[in-house]
Amino acid sequence: MDSRPIPSTGERLPVIGCGTWKAFDVPPDGDGVATLAGVLRTLFDAGGSMVDSSPMYGRAEAVVGKSFATLDARGRAFVATKVWTRGRQAGIDGMRRSLALLGTPQLDLMQIHNLLDWRMHLATLRDWKAEGTIRYLGVTHYTASAHAELAAVLRSESLDFLQVNYSLEEPEAARELLPLAADRGVAVIVNRPFGGGDLVRRLRGRALPDWAEELGCRTWSHLLLKYVLAHPAVTCVIPGTGNPDHMSEDCAAGSAPFVDPKRLDGLL
Ligand SMILES: NC(=O)c1ccc[n+]([C@@H]2O[C@H](COP(=O)([O-])OP(=O)(O)OC[C@H]3O[C@@H](n4cnc5c(N)ncnc54)[C@H](OP(=O)(O)O)[C@@H]3O)[C@@H](O)[C@H]2O)c1
Repeated sequence: MDSRPIPSTGERLPVIGCGTWKAFDVPPDGDGVATLAGVLRTLFDAGGSMVDSSPMYGRAEAVVGKSFATLDARGRAFVATKVWTRGRQAGIDGMRRSLALLGTPQLDLMQIHNLLDWRMHLATLRDWKAEGTIRYLGVTHYTASAHAELAAVLRSESLDFLQVNYSLEEPEAARELLPLAADRGVAVIVNRPFGGGDLVRRLRGRALPDWAEELGCRTWSHLLLKYVLAHPAVTCVIPGTGNPDHMSEDCAAGSAPFVDPKRLDGLL
């Protein structure tokens, strides 16, 4: 799998990660955890490392923590989660809880979920980064309507990471936000590469373009991920899945050549 540098440090990050929204929200003591641990094992074995969660995702952080305990995840996972609440102390309490659920005293990346109370939390994240509890900080959103506010935050603050929606169905970030992130030296994590699943469902059953195979695309998921990774500002993409076979398929899209977006003009 290819890797790309995080601009603020030069540390390299594998380009495919795993999102945990919905699929990882299962009982932490139930049978489903073994399958989800299998998703993460598949990611690590393919050379990936980024696992993205949030306290907004129900039991997902607990399930990720349980999965890590059954895998040899230390040194293999790049663990990212979020703060999703209002108020300084509620933010601190929430982040401590996330660390406990994920089973780690130090986190690779803490993000402010959907920019909620971002000025307040950013001050705490700077303190936590200075004392080494987190290695990187960032902000997230998932709708084009928030891109202007994300751009304003990127211009006014010093961030390590931006997480944002970008896909064949939602290409708006390419207009201003992704070039701005590159200019500002901010790493980009792309969420919703399959439009939350809608895109793969829409394209299922349609024949792939005849040029797909020469770019290593055997499935629509390969094509959609390679579309996202063609943007030079993108550092990593985090398809959400609870299926080890889908994780394996998604990881297979993580090496060049990628898909020039112009080749997919008019597809949808
Ligand atoms: N505000 C935020 O910070 C924010 C917002 C949205 C998302 N996120 C993050 O971004 C991640 C990705 O977004 P998302 O999960 O909403 O949407 P997504 O990645 O666009 O789509 C997920 C859907 O794609 C399916 N899928 C994955 N790989 C597949 C494959 N190879 N073939 C067929 N189907 C496949 C999954 O089903 P299966 O489980 O069956 O594979 C799931 O239904 C989230 O999990 C979350 O970590 C963050």
